[in-house]
Amino acid sequence: MMNRKTLFASLFSLVLAVPAAAQERAFRLGLITPPVHVWNQEAQALSDTLAETSGGRFSVVTFPSGQLGSEATMLQQLQTGALDMAWLTTAEVTTRVPDMAALHAPFLVDNIEDAAKVLRSDPAREILDALPRATGTVGLCYAMTGMRQLMTRRPVQSAADLRGMRFRITPAPPIRSFFEMFGAAPAPMPLTQVYDALANGQIDAIDMDYESIINFRYYEHAPHMMETNHHMFGMVALVSGRVWAGLSPEDQAILRDAVQQHCDRTIDRFVEEEDDKLARLRQAPGIVITEDVGPEFFGDIVERWDAEWSTRTPYVARLRDLVASF
Ligand code: BEZ
Repeated sequence: MMNRKTLFASLFSLVLAVPAAAQERAFRLGLITPPVHVWNQEAQALSDTLAETSGGRFSVVTFPSGQLGSEATMLQQLQTGALDMAWLTTAEVTTRVPDMAALHAPFLVDNIEDAAKVLRSDPAREILDALPRATGTVGLCYAMTGMRQLMTRRPVQSAADLRGMRFRITPAPPIRSFFEMFGAAPAPMPLTQVYDALANGQIDAIDMDYESIINFRYYEHAPHMMETNHHMFGMVALVSGRVWAGLSPEDQAILRDAVQQHCDRTIDRFVEEEDDKLARLRQAPGIVITEDVGPEFFGDIVERWDAEWSTRTPYVARLRDLVASF
């Protein structure tokens, strides 16, 4: 029989054991991209990395394909602490942090290697400092989904052919500006709605990256692809500010290092695989590719875009200077 003293001691050790168990945590991570996307693969791999570096305490449960709502909704959920983490497009964050618009400056870089350098640069990292105040999130690192191309239903010979086309864009002010400047009719909508909008004729054209074009086979309804590389498409790995504040400095370091590892891996994979993706698209049924469409195709659009956005953020000039130094 247990006497009172041993019973008390056992209960006490049980109570002590509770906080250790309570530290076990499955972080909920939302993404707009489907399970096949590189972001989702790396988000899954993050779970394994975290399990290893946290001694089995941390893991990640992913919510792909906008299951939790649009990127705008996920950003709100991060702000309230209803969601722990999200890997969102830099485009989405431009709605709250105008400095991030500089990452979408048209023709900022002319190849994916330089896009990687920009995303790993000090000025780009500085932009993340504005996130806690503007969004209630902590931005741990950037990654990307490659460079963006134009895909249209009808063939395009000159920029004049793009005028009046209903172009699906990712909802973001700097992207809207670019499309308005060449006379298109931008139709902002989440990634999850794009295929159906093309299939039912609601839109004429899209702004998209190779990874998504392959994953969703957009060429089935918009077979004319112009290889413009007109802007890079960044991702930012976010943690809810509330969730972050509830972690010890040691656990913050574990999370930061693990996420950084998968941001880096994502960037490296896009750099390594971009040419192969274009090669695969050349084989896609029905696709017609116009290669090497440069900024000159769009006339003076880079100057006009810079003139407008330089009044909103100094980072347009800073990033252009940075790229000039590569
Ligand atoms: C898009 O909105 O076009 C998009 C979002 C995330 C990944 C790829 C594309």
